Amino acid sequence: MGEARLGTPRLGYGVGLRTPHLAHIREHRPPVGFFEIISENFLDCRGGRRRALEEIAAHYPVVLHGVSLSIGSTDPLDFGYLRRLKRLADEVDAPWVSDHVCWTGVLGVHTHDLLPLPFTEETLAHVAARARVVQDVLERPLALENPSSYVEFRASTLTEWEFLARLAEEADCGLLLDVNNVHVSAFNHDFDPERYLRELPHERVVQMHLAGHTDYGTHIIDTHDAPVAEPVWELYRLAVELTGGGAATLLERDDKLPPFPELLAELDRARAAAGAVTAVSSVPSGSSGPSVSSVAAGSGSHG
Ligand SMILES: [Fe+2]
Repeated sequence: MGEARLGTPRLGYGVGLRTPHLAHIREHRPPVGFFEIISENFLDCRGGRRRALEEIAAHYPVVLHGVSLSIGSTDPLDFGYLRRLKRLADEVDAPWVSDHVCWTGVLGVHTHDLLPLPFTEETLAHVAARARVVQDVLERPLALENPSSYVEFRASTLTEWEFLARLAEEADCGLLLDVNNVHVSAFNHDFDPERYLRELPHERVVQMHLAGHTDYGTHIIDTHDAPVAEPVWELYRLAVELTGGGAATLLERDDKLPPFPELLAELDRARAAAGAVTAVSSVPSGSSGPSVSSVAAGSGSHG
């Protein structure tokens, strides 16, 4: 398994680990490159679900995806949470940990929502400083994800992509590029999603998310309850081209969960889409660029 970006291993194509699929995965060992768990579902969890995770982590790479870091809040960082997160990351040997560019609460109140931030120099300095601390505590790369958003701040002086690009550089952290969220926010806020993708620091994209959404005509909600939509596949192909095929791709499904083989079929579509892009843009062997074979090797290490 070759090294990809920020020293992270190349994991290929994975699926979000959800409880209804645990038995199928343990029995069939499906051919996925890695699993992503929601960190909070496994912090301090010691029962059968935890044993299932340990068994799965013994056979697949596992990355952690959190929803309560609240990197943008003005509340102090929760070092108790970070220590528990570090312990879990150590236990499953997670190559990186991700969370969202957002805030989830303030003054000790948790909203359990991923709330948008004003994209200003002040916010940037605040979030970058905190991301550095988080990364130091976790002792592994932190990848910060672009959340979907439904409102914007008039106070913002930077675009979302400018904010992410500067944040990644100033915090020296990774990015988790959620391609569906780019589509959702681009529609809701009327910006150009392709420009967004082109202006990110592509070498810092450690992982991508693909997910489904619900289009209400006037706005789109990031519902994770449907297959990936066609415009998102189009953006994904561009994202693969721009990132050179080295970032891990993860299919997120949280609601209306289909049988696991249906997710595998959707993951195959991602493999095929990425394979077609990298086949066109691949460079001769011996150079430093990604090749189709290296992408395929990353995707098939478990069967
Ligand atoms: Fe996501």
